[in-house]
Amino acid sequence: MTAPLRARDPIVVNVALGERSYDIVIGRGQLASLGKKIAALRPGSMAAIVSDETVARHHRAATEAALAAAGIGTTCVTVPAGESSKSFPMLERVCEALISARIERADVVVALGGGVVGDLAGLTAALVRRGLDYVQVPTTLLAQVDSSVGGKTAIDSVHGKNLFGAFHQPILVVADTALLDTLPARQFRAGYAEVVKYGLIGDAGFFAWLEANWRDLFAGGAAREHAIAVSCRMKAAIVARDERESGERALLNLGHTFGHALEAAAGFSDRLLHGEAIALGMALAFAFSAKRGLLPRSQAERVERHLAAVGLPIHLSSILGGLPDADRLMELIAQDKKVKRGKLTFILARGIGESFIAPDVDAAEVHAFLVEKLAER
Ligand SMILES: NC(=O)c1ccc[n+]([C@@H]2O[C@H](COP(=O)([O-])OP(=O)(O)OC[C@H]3O[C@@H](n4cnc5c(N)ncnc54)[C@H](O)[C@@H]3O)[C@@H](O)[C@H]2O)c1
Ligand SMILES: [Zn+2]
Repeated sequence: MTAPLRARDPIVVNVALGERSYDIVIGRGQLASLGKKIAALRPGSMAAIVSDETVARHHRAATEAALAAAGIGTTCVTVPAGESSKSFPMLERVCEALISARIERADVVVALGGGVVGDLAGLTAALVRRGLDYVQVPTTLLAQVDSSVGGKTAIDSVHGKNLFGAFHQPILVVADTALLDTLPARQFRAGYAEVVKYGLIGDAGFFAWLEANWRDLFAGGAAREHAIAVSCRMKAAIVARDERESGERALLNLGHTFGHALEAAAGFSDRLLHGEAIALGMALAFAFSAKRGLLPRSQAERVERHLAAVGLPIHLSSILGGLPDADRLMELIAQDKKVKRGKLTFILARGIGESFIAPDVDAAEVHAFLVEKLAER
């Protein structure tokens, strides 16, 4: 007799935040049990699905079916795909749509999408009726390993990204890795930069494992769930110790100071996706650490080799359409980060898996490094 075919058991990672603790459920096919899980957490609730038009086209029907199977009534509001939906007009539209649909305090918001939808729906949930519970159903690799976990929600200002927001933790995250099968390859690759980030921050063994297993991860094999689980475990542990980023959580910004400046220089456009900017930013952070004598150049080269192997950019010359000069990049860095008496806080590394917060980096030194890197193109 053959055993019945059974979906692989999910991996569950808990985010330990006292009464605000929640599970991240990771696995292929987990969307099907979304309704059952929500019904167990909030019996009798209705669900308001917030999604973007692209994601809704692929995954709205399955999400509604999973909720209906558990007797959960739904309403759905969609916004255009893309960063521009993290705006006040869109926030207002989604908030009002929830009120029109008679969503009450006891109901649940379901964020079905990438980081844009997660941030917008999370902030909506924080505001409507002074706070609704919400569930993250992340549909990009970036969202599954990063933005859906940790409770940061936000929309953008004309002055910069994520300037209006709230800390509001979800009650559950369901990361169905099969949803990533419809994600464009470039988006998947960009999200992978954040997976590599966890290895570089604090787990050299994980980085080595990624070097050996990234192909299976990209192909949707069991390595995908494992990598997402390791990433979520590290983020969960850091968030549990420093929920509001008064210290250690800043480590998660490895590659982000350089990366955000490059993203801004490229106009937050398709020229450079966030994850691509982070790959470049991590390569620069390691090169800068090597230049400061913190680690051997060979370690920085190993990081570059892996990022390049999966097709992520590591050279400034790969940004299409040119870049501003080092002065302008420093201005962009200063906009993103406070410069205190010519000193900047950077995440640097003493090795792969040994990143640390350096609060006293000389802005002039960063400038000289950027001049050098820009000249290499
Ligand atoms: N809250 C946090 O802690 C946190 C952390 C990191 C990033 N972020 C935010 O996340 C955002 C970036 O997230 P993102 O990279 O997921 O971008 P995104 O949400 O814009 O998704 C990228 C694109 O992929 C499409 N897409 C998403 N899932 C799909 C699927 N399964 N199949 C086909 N297409 C799909 C989307 O429609 C979109 O066009 C930024 O706004 C960033 O500020 C937040
Ligand atoms: Zn990031």
